[in-house]
Amino acid sequence: MCGIIGYSGRLEAKQVLVNGLEQLEYRGYDSAGIAQITKETIEITKTTGNVSVLKRKLGEKETIASHCGIGHTRWATHGGVTEENAHPHQVGKVTLIHNGIIENYKKIREDYGKGILFHSQTDTEIAAMLFDSFYHGNPEEAIWNTVAKLEGSYAFCILFEDIPNTVYCIRKISPLVAAYAKEGAFVASDITALIAYTQDYFVVPEDTILVLTDEKAELHNRKGNIVEKEMLHVKWDFTAAQKNGYPYYMLKEIYEQPEALWNTVAPRIKEDIPDFEEEQIPDSVFESIKQVKIVACGTAMHAGLIGKVLIEKRVRLSVGVEIASEFRYASPIIDSNTLVIVISQSGETIDTLASLRLAKELKAVTLGIVNVKGSTIARESDYVLYTHAGPEIAVASTKAYTVQIAALCLLTMRLAFVKKTLGRGEITRDFALLKESMECVKRSLLLEPQIQEMTACLTDARDLFFIGRGIDYALSCEGSIKLKEISYIHSEAYAAGELKHGTISLITEGVPVIAIATQESVFSKMVSNIREVKARGALVILITKESMQVEDSIFDYHFTIPEIADDYTPIPAAVILQLIAYHTSLRRGLNVDQPRNLAKSVTVE
Ligand code: F6R
Repeated sequence: MCGIIGYSGRLEAKQVLVNGLEQLEYRGYDSAGIAQITKETIEITKTTGNVSVLKRKLGEKETIASHCGIGHTRWATHGGVTEENAHPHQVGKVTLIHNGIIENYKKIREDYGKGILFHSQTDTEIAAMLFDSFYHGNPEEAIWNTVAKLEGSYAFCILFEDIPNTVYCIRKISPLVAAYAKEGAFVASDITALIAYTQDYFVVPEDTILVLTDEKAELHNRKGNIVEKEMLHVKWDFTAAQKNGYPYYMLKEIYEQPEALWNTVAPRIKEDIPDFEEEQIPDSVFESIKQVKIVACGTAMHAGLIGKVLIEKRVRLSVGVEIASEFRYASPIIDSNTLVIVISQSGETIDTLASLRLAKELKAVTLGIVNVKGSTIARESDYVLYTHAGPEIAVASTKAYTVQIAALCLLTMRLAFVKKTLGRGEITRDFALLKESMECVKRSLLLEPQIQEMTACLTDARDLFFIGRGIDYALSCEGSIKLKEISYIHSEAYAAGELKHGTISLITEGVPVIAIATQESVFSKMVSNIREVKARGALVILITKESMQVEDSIFDYHFTIPEIADDYTPIPAAVILQLIAYHTSLRRGLNVDQPRNLAKSVTVE
């Protein structure tokens, strides 16, 4: 979490840093700060609150003219949200920003910090002290000596008081990308902060120092030799990372789904069946697979729940869906005949990454479904199937989720082809069904006015339940997280048949229940469950396919998706749930894109 940026070049540093922080704000928005360096001085400006507060503060004071600096937007880990704890931190000749957690900070403080007056409660200030204590005029030596003592994760951007115009960076686990463009050298937590200047960048490798000056962005190894950069290119540009007239990124991203889905699916289709030749995923990879594990966090894990239904039904392989933060500390039963699919929008989620590493240690075949090109999970997976959703900036994931489902559909079809559990004709038909469901997203988007109106009944809700069966239950989990994370209404997802084993005691007069009933095979069972909650006074918001006959007495609001095959309903139905969450949050007067306590990219445990 936390967004970091560094710059050295011909532009005014303050502007570059603040613009970059605005793009990185989704990574954390508890506090923000910048440090600018000149030959004479280092000037730090920091504040609690988000980047707009920092901008105001910078506008109110006379700042130095500088062309080099570092900036940080914080998601608090060590120490509360105070100005003292905001980055940058300065100790002696060292000023730095940090993303990550230094786990052995107490020991370092004991060993090296005696007699030093610290101003914050952060692990970062202690790291700054260590850099300073090792700094005797040679920055790279100080960096190597310092990181040798650190345990945990970090991405540091460091200024040394007597070396103006230069930013030094090093990372372990926490991400950093860098670029050199005509305006100068840049480093940031991710490419969105650099996209205004370039679409070409490189990932800063671990165990390497990045040196930024107005003339270069250079990588050095321990011996001080230059390390070759592996350049990457993103296809999207600056406009893709803007709101483009939408009030919130989340709404923009909801509306981008038809295109995102198409961009993800179209390049993989040859002769109407999925083909991963371009991805260099040979069929032989799948031939010996005897079981599948899908490992991810949050929304990405919910996409995995849909994948489980699809793969088990069509490929007849057993699929386990695992929460990454549990999986990494469990004793999973996997081997070289296991396909471990890790799903991650950011490609940086620490628990998912750790799970991937564990799966590799246990010799499983690993495949990443990842949105961010060049991210750590993408680089470390044996095979990668990129989703092409473009940048997702709102904290609440929307388009990344539906494209993850689409990618899992493609993967299922290819697995079924290789394992011969479906014939070519059946797969072609499946692909047509997937396309149909993608088309239906536009129909769901047309429901926005009615959904907006309906959400008036949710504004004051305290608790809310989502119910569904089969694939609709998997989707309920996603509907529930989306609603609770941005509306702060307590919500839970229940397999509809499980309700009467405890939870139904919570259904009283007026409690909203969002019932997803798109599956024909269990439709009558769902109707019975809905009757049960209605009989106890629930306010029922029902989602079905158009053709499904329901009596008016069992719902208060009814939204429909077109007539599509059962297994492909989650894509258009998810859009309805996203719009419900969005408008409920708006009605409650909340900042949809920046829900409290949450950050987009969870790079710390
Ligand atoms: C919810 C949400 C999170 C993420 C989760 C995993 O809207 O966005 O639950 O899905 O933190 O993130 P990635 O996919 O980046 O690994």
